[in-house]
Amino acid sequence: MVVPPTPENLERAAQIIRSGGLVAFPTETVYGLGANALDARAAARIFEAKQRPSFDPLIVHVADRGMLQKVVQEVPALAERLMERFWPGPLTLVLPRSERVPGLVTSGLPTVAVRMPAHPVAQELIRRAGLPLAAPSANPFGYLSPTRAEHVERMLGGRVDLILDGGRTEFGVESTIVLLAEKPTVLRYGAVAVEELERVLGRLELQVGAREKPLVPGQLPQHYAPHTPIRIAPPSEIPLGLRKRVGYLAFQEVPKGFKVVKVLSPTGSLLEAAAHLFEALHQLDRLGLEAIYAEPIPEVGLGRAIMDRLRRASSA
Ligand code: TXA
Ligand code: MG
Repeated sequence: MVVPPTPENLERAAQIIRSGGLVAFPTETVYGLGANALDARAAARIFEAKQRPSFDPLIVHVADRGMLQKVVQEVPALAERLMERFWPGPLTLVLPRSERVPGLVTSGLPTVAVRMPAHPVAQELIRRAGLPLAAPSANPFGYLSPTRAEHVERMLGGRVDLILDGGRTEFGVESTIVLLAEKPTVLRYGAVAVEELERVLGRLELQVGAREKPLVPGQLPQHYAPHTPIRIAPPSEIPLGLRKRVGYLAFQEVPKGFKVVKVLSPTGSLLEAAAHLFEALHQLDRLGLEAIYAEPIPEVGLGRAIMDRLRRASSA
């Protein structure tokens, strides 16, 4: 059931979390599918609802530093600097895990991925529940992430106890993930640009993108994929005959001759393009097209997250 985030509905949602249920909620990146992160049975329901393999660990969402202390063993100095600058916000840090976090949540890893979301509804839900929330994106495993409550309703409606509607999410791509090991390493491109992180920490190692043999979980090549086949190509490479039969996901300008076109950002803003990416793909995917072609995006700033998602969508 989709409900607005009134105080009564937030209280109801918090109650569902405390009793081991599932609540979908908005964050500034994408919608999350939340459960009590300290309860293995509640977390198991997330894997079941998403049909997610248990080797793909979950991100734990906290509302304050007190909650953070409960789920990690220690906060390294470099993590501290990133938190000061980017929390609350779309940055996930992989830190040494506390024994309190069930192994299912971290897929048995000695680390836990944690973030403090900036969205007021997410914060209020965590605060009212009084518990850290394990929450992956609220989509079936391998499918497009949800940026609206109705995406969640359509994909997982029957499998969640409540969906809090916070409108369209601000960033539209998931959080950036950084592992704080010996050398800080970016594991996933996301809503915080790597260039911004490097302004705080200097050069970062990169272990991002799809891999046939994932270095860490969640780097499977097939991810974020629509049902319609998707290919990356500039319009100039697509013959006119083919254009009539397929959809095009353009960055800035409308190319001629396609059956349907979605433009990500008429002004050429990467921030705006990221915010519209999944929504446009959800829309195109519902049209029963033969294929979707997507225009390559410049790989700077959020353009890296956009291209990462498009590449994975197209390798399905
Ligand atoms: O923006 C986001 O991060 C959204 C919202 C809901 O917060 N959540 C999200 O979660 O994108 P999910 O489940 O779709 O992505 C979680 C990914 C895993 O696939 C894995 O790549 C990484 O986080 N991860 C989680 N725990 C990890 C760990 N201990 N070590 C390395 N990577 C980890
Ligand atoms: Mg996901």
